[in-house]
Amino acid sequence: MAPQQLLTRGEVGALPPHAGLEIDLGLLPGTLQRLVELHHRYGDIYRLATRGAAAETYVVAHPNYAQQVLSTHHADYRRLLLDGRMSLVLGNGLLMSEGSGQKAQRKLLQRCFHGEASAGLLRYMAGCNAKLLERWRACARSGESIELTRDMLDLSLDFNLRAVFSVDADGGMLDDVGAQFLHRLTAPVREDTRSNLLFVKQAKRARARIAELIARRRVRFDRPFDVLTMLMDARHRDNGDAMSDQQIIDEILSILMAGHETVATALKSIWYSISRDPAVAQAVHEEVDRVIGSADPSVVHVGSLQYTKTVIQEALRLYPPIWVISHMAEVASRIGAYHVPAGTIVFVCPYLVHRHPEFWLEPEIFDPGRFGPEAVAGRHSHAYLPYARGPRSCIGGELSTHEMLLHVATVARELKVVHVDGAPGDYAAGFALRSQTPIHMRLETRT
Ligand code: HEM
Repeated sequence: MAPQQLLTRGEVGALPPHAGLEIDLGLLPGTLQRLVELHHRYGDIYRLATRGAAAETYVVAHPNYAQQVLSTHHADYRRLLLDGRMSLVLGNGLLMSEGSGQKAQRKLLQRCFHGEASAGLLRYMAGCNAKLLERWRACARSGESIELTRDMLDLSLDFNLRAVFSVDADGGMLDDVGAQFLHRLTAPVREDTRSNLLFVKQAKRARARIAELIARRRVRFDRPFDVLTMLMDARHRDNGDAMSDQQIIDEILSILMAGHETVATALKSIWYSISRDPAVAQAVHEEVDRVIGSADPSVVHVGSLQYTKTVIQEALRLYPPIWVISHMAEVASRIGAYHVPAGTIVFVCPYLVHRHPEFWLEPEIFDPGRFGPEAVAGRHSHAYLPYARGPRSCIGGELSTHEMLLHVATVARELKVVHVDGAPGDYAAGFALRSQTPIHMRLETRT
């Protein structure tokens, strides 16, 4: 499965092997498993017909190829969101935007999710964890099992809405903006006009609600610390301009969309992985006890939870929430020795790259040791892509890692999470890797 020699620009290469199949961009259940089988049969890059489109789809499974698409030749491509409904509702937010405006917008947004700003937002996580823990403690006492998929979606939604709109200040708005619209965003993609019309109607309503919030904030003296306030106060460094209300709404929807199901999906596989391996669970408990002791888990502890962080990284390797990063070639390009005609859809597939046997020994085995400093330093820069790479990589990596560390530490201090049934391996493809079957866990109070 070694990649072919890289061509220089200007040379025209061959086309990758054709797998003789059609891929459905609606991404029905089973798509992912099919991509794995085809990787074994055809190698690190192969072609498929695209249902309903003349252009072909290339599937990419090698870090060298991923590096070309995401980093070195990124200017030849634009992002393609697989759920067509997104383009209807996300406007010109960072997920959808392209060109020079995108770069300036990205710089502005990055500041909201790093360093002090990120640490400030994480204060909201304590309240979200406390709410969940209260219920989980009761389940531990009664023996009632929990369903992880739903609980992690609710937790992530709770944090996102508090971080973006700060629940204390504007709690009354949350139901409309959040529950209806976002739960709908995470529902499976359906080719159903009625459901899509309802989706667009709810998106409009969410936009109107956010516009109301912005108007209210403009006349308040005591504006809360949250993403909305940060976006309203943000100024472009070159010209000092603020964002228009329209742009703020687009960005908020992009952020909610990008940070909701991804984190929930990641947390689900993290708990699944911990619960399946007693040695890993014990090491997490020991680290949490040693680092946090009887204090309240907070952002000051996250840098010391080194082992737990490797557990999170390994869970994201085996179960990358964004399992495929999809692009469209805007101009003719090349991947390795292969020609990419303009219009080709390219799937860089972290799910396949993360299992590539040249870069990961026994790839199906869960082993946090893969993320020790030496192992990471010796690895191909594009062999691990949960947050993508290059100029369109995730801007929420630091925030989400700390959010997940705080959650795991808060729970692990008190409770053991014990697997009952279900697994994240039974996928349906959506925006994030979604397990179709529920995952049930039992909770035990640590003695
Ligand atoms: C475990 C959690 C997360 C994972 C695995 C993840 C993964 C990714 C990936 C793979 C991309 C690139 C997608 C593509 O090119 O198609 C991306 C982009 C993005 N993510 Fe995340 N993400 C996570 C959490 C978050 C959070 C919490 C936020 C909110 C701050 C966020 C905001 C964004 C934005 C705005 C982009 C677009 C960046 C751009 O185009 O310049 N993500 N994310």
